[in-house]
Amino acid sequence: MKYGKFITFEGGEGSGKSTQAHLLQNRLEKAGIDAVLTREPGGSPGAEEIRRLLVSGEAERWNPMSETLLLYAARNDHLMRTIRPSLRHGYWVISDRFADSSHAYQGAAGGIDDAFLRVLDEAVIEKTVPDLTIILDIPPETGLARTRDRANENHEDRFESKRLGFHQKLREGFLKIARAEPERCIVIDTLQDKDEVAEQIWQIVRQRLPGKENNS
Ligand SMILES: Nc1ncnc2c1ncn2[C@@H]1O[C@H](COP(=O)(O)OP(=O)(O)OP(=O)(O)O)[C@@H](O)[C@H]1O
Ligand SMILES: [Mg+2]
Repeated sequence: MKYGKFITFEGGEGSGKSTQAHLLQNRLEKAGIDAVLTREPGGSPGAEEIRRLLVSGEAERWNPMSETLLLYAARNDHLMRTIRPSLRHGYWVISDRFADSSHAYQGAAGGIDDAFLRVLDEAVIEKTVPDLTIILDIPPETGLARTRDRANENHEDRFESKRLGFHQKLREGFLKIARAEPERCIVIDTLQDKDEVAEQIWQIVRQRLPGKENNS
């Protein structure tokens, strides 16, 4: 049975994850590779309901432990109903955020013990670890300014509304993950133009995840 590849995009608010996830899906399609584009929190009907609880409302609505438990409930559903069935079918899966966001938001910035998050990872993610994680890096001030420019009709601004110090810790958290797991993670500076970022990502995907169709 053919198995697809699993790619995740990570990074702070407004770093360009959703933009680049779409662009990568388009390039994969052109190269003859079917890729399912999904997101966290969310990505399955049940997980999307949990997303609503997490991303809207007052910044202090949930504490980091409540967030962690909600996020892993959502992630379990997302893995069972969307990610694993798609990979088993041979599709590639691109997820706009995944478990590294929990380590950065609830761990590095929120103070949850990383060892506890690793226990949850083992129980929930099991072997469905991403083949490649693209961490988009940007100074938080710039990323937050980009999200303010973007119309946010869904009021999904609960995390964006946290103070700048939170976003700085978040950035450090993602960079630390990249240093710890260089085989899985690559960091890309997204102060550059969108198309340049997309081109760098495409070169990395071709180098790291060669497939017979993926040689255009
Ligand atoms: N390289 C870039 N240069 C300038 N603007 C960009 C770049 N990449 C994305 N943008 C713009 O910045 C805004 C945020 O981008 P995007 O929504 O892709 O970020 P995100 O990481 O998904 O944000 P969030 O964390 O809020 O989901 C969008 O308006 C997008 O068009
Ligand atoms: Mg986004």
